[in-house]
Amino acid sequence: MVPSQSKTSMFFVHPQIKLNNFKKINLAQKLESYFPSKQLIFTDMGRSAFKIIIGKLNLQNSEIMMPAYICDIFQPILEKYNIKPIFLDIDLKTFHIKREEIFRKITPRTKAILVCHTYGLPFDVDGLRSDLPSYLSGGRTSDIAIIEDCAHAFGVKPKSDIAFFSLYKQFPALRGGLLVCPKDWQISLPKTNFNFRDFISLLNCLPFFAFIFKKFGNDIAPKMLRKEKLPEPAGLNKLSLALFYYSLEDFEKSMQNRIKLAKFFQQELQNLGFEVQEHENNVFCYLSALVPKNLENKRDEIVAGLRRYRVFCTRIWHTPIVLSREEFPNTFEVAKRIINFPLQNYYAEKDIRTMLESIKNVLCEF
Ligand SMILES: Cc1ncc(COP(=O)(O)O)c(C=O)c1O
Repeated sequence: MVPSQSKTSMFFVHPQIKLNNFKKINLAQKLESYFPSKQLIFTDMGRSAFKIIIGKLNLQNSEIMMPAYICDIFQPILEKYNIKPIFLDIDLKTFHIKREEIFRKITPRTKAILVCHTYGLPFDVDGLRSDLPSYLSGGRTSDIAIIEDCAHAFGVKPKSDIAFFSLYKQFPALRGGLLVCPKDWQISLPKTNFNFRDFISLLNCLPFFAFIFKKFGNDIAPKMLRKEKLPEPAGLNKLSLALFYYSLEDFEKSMQNRIKLAKFFQQELQNLGFEVQEHENNVFCYLSALVPKNLENKRDEIVAGLRRYRVFCTRIWHTPIVLSREEFPNTFEVAKRIINFPLQNYYAEKDIRTMLESIKNVLCEF
């Protein structure tokens, strides 16, 4: 039985368009306040920004360290540029890399460390930078670049010179990446236009169509959206850019509401036996939690059960690049138990309570 209250509400993880939250702003001024004295380049996708970084730092044919628990879009990029990844297992409370793994695995060929502010929780970049010299042997100085993957973390200020964002994770921007880099990097990108993939993505930002795609699309639309068609980095189309900057002011204003609701949601989930990520300075891209240990084999059934209540969760990343229980026990465990619950800036406490009711009902089935 699906309760009548939740029949009218639909909850999606990906950002939804709310036209009355759009405001015109001075983009250059706003971005300067977020990223003082940095060069900013809008790219078609976050992964394009990463490709630009590879080129500029000469990382082709080298070795880079990165979290084992990360998006599988990195796999083809690493292959294309002949980069050997050194994967690092993660911590179960933060989902960040464990720093001691760096010390154990670093080699003379390691040229960069990619750190990820997973789900919006800032990774301690300053701490890593100050510890790094002590990890290096043979008189090597710390010439290792730290690249910040802020795909989930608009609102977290990068601490290093090199970072990238994925705009459509937090804004209804259809697509889009943002590269943050030193001012002396010379970058020119081919222009792109709004295309069919963007049109599907636009529909997916409207609750009615998002629901139709989820209900009848057999996940075809999300797969289409995932597919990266452009092999080389390109610029961002005008509509995506406009959707990003028209929603930036409201995003900023409603961020505190999001964080307050996230903490409430976390508390209630903990009462139900879920394990949640640390919340200190977290901007909460989604509300990510591990299903209760005694239900670890039921995660996919719980996600399917919640769809009946129109709570459309995701499982990022149930298929990370590395999935070896022996070498990466925590990555393996999180991939098995993770659920990302919807959390939008415009939600109110009643929305969280509606989702919680649905979660309780689904858990009762086990
Ligand atoms: C942690 C992380 N980094 C990078 C990316 C790539 O971003 P984009 O999809 O904008 O290329 C993603 C998502 O796909 C991601 O989750």
